[in-house]
Amino acid sequence: MVRLFDLRHAAALTISALDEHGVNAALSFVSVARLEEIPTDRGLRVVVDGIGIGLYRVDETVYAMEDACPHAGYPLSEGELDGCVISCRAHGWPFDIRTGFDPEHADGFPIPCFAVEIDGNEVRIDLATRINEPRRRSGGPNGP
Ligand code: FES
Repeated sequence: MVRLFDLRHAAALTISALDEHGVNAALSFVSVARLEEIPTDRGLRVVVDGIGIGLYRVDETVYAMEDACPHAGYPLSEGELDGCVISCRAHGWPFDIRTGFDPEHADGFPIPCFAVEIDGNEVRIDLATRINEPRRRSGGPNGP
């Protein structure tokens, strides 16, 4: 099942918060699923503003990670979830849903992961708040 959300028409919940500099920042979360809809052995794919996102539930915690395998673009949400690692169904590449990294090669490029909040049974994500950053190796032919 895939859910489609278009943020132009969705009623996003706006929450005021302080950023790391103590400045008021607006975080916009959009409701994407109910907690009980997210399986525990794989992901639930939703599409928010044209971006495929895999939702993963480990106990009562939910993680949101872009739903495209960097190898060949297969939807990771269709893979097998073991603890906090999803393995791509196509060729088996593993990714930690908490960080977006291959758990064996944390010096690579992470898959974008996003902020999640749960209010009762309602799961909301904020695409404007990534919880990881692209990390590039220093040195090398294209490094700084
Ligand atoms: S498409 Fe995911 S491992 Fe090949």
